[in-house]
Amino acid sequence: MDITEQKKAQEKIKTSLKEKEILLKEIHHRVKNSLQVISSLLYLQSKDLKDEETVNIFVESQNRIRSMALVHEKLYRSKNLAQINLSTYIRDLANALFRTYLISVNKVKLVMDIQKTALDIDTAIQCGLILNELISNALKYAFPKDLSGEISIVLKSKQNRMVELLVSDTGVGLPDHFDITEKNSLGMRLVESLVDQIHGRMEIENNNGTAFKIWFKTKDFAEEK
Ligand SMILES: Nc1ncnc2c1ncn2[C@@H]1O[C@H](COP(=O)(O)OP(=O)(O)O)[C@@H](O)[C@H]1O
Ligand SMILES: [Mg+2]
Repeated sequence: MDITEQKKAQEKIKTSLKEKEILLKEIHHRVKNSLQVISSLLYLQSKDLKDEETVNIFVESQNRIRSMALVHEKLYRSKNLAQINLSTYIRDLANALFRTYLISVNKVKLVMDIQKTALDIDTAIQCGLILNELISNALKYAFPKDLSGEISIVLKSKQNRMVELLVSDTGVGLPDHFDITEKNSLGMRLVESLVDQIHGRMEIENNNGTAFKIWFKTKDFAEEK
């Protein structure tokens, strides 16, 4: 076979692959931008609100949207377009929440230990939303007044594609009467439903602060092909 023909064919495939990568990047960029526009619209609408509770609802909605936008931003910047660097994602997410709730790192220390783990986009978004709720709650409730302490986020890859995610704080702990099945607060309900969606399970510990342990299985990237 003519070697130049073969070379030409190879080049063609390479170019076509490169084009697809660029397109995919472009889409992530656009999704991120659209989510940012939604967030800005919510912000503009909330600016004139007087009622504090209503303002908080808007702020939390913006946070949730941001946690998703950040996944697309990370994908857009990642070399591997199917996976994100969880470590920088979680750090950015947490930092943004510290700023939102005006909590200084002198008051609440953030400790992170994130193992390199490959997450598909859906799971990354669901994990991001779970983390958004749990970190928000820790910042809002664990350290009232002058109380200081630590929030810790640990993510470990276990055998058989299992992942263990631990979000804990050294704060005041959950209220005595706390019942996760009580259906009146959106945050915890959201966490439960997201854990379900990633086919995970969750345990809550309530001594020396609050700890949420979540286990779930990651997708098999090889299986998809
Ligand atoms: N890390 C925590 N430390 C102390 N209390 C918490 C923590 N996380 C949740 N809570 C309690 O659980 C309640 C329910 O949380 P959530 O469902 O997220 O609702 P919301 O954040 O809107 O109040 C909170 O109002 C708070 O009393
Ligand atoms: Mg909450």
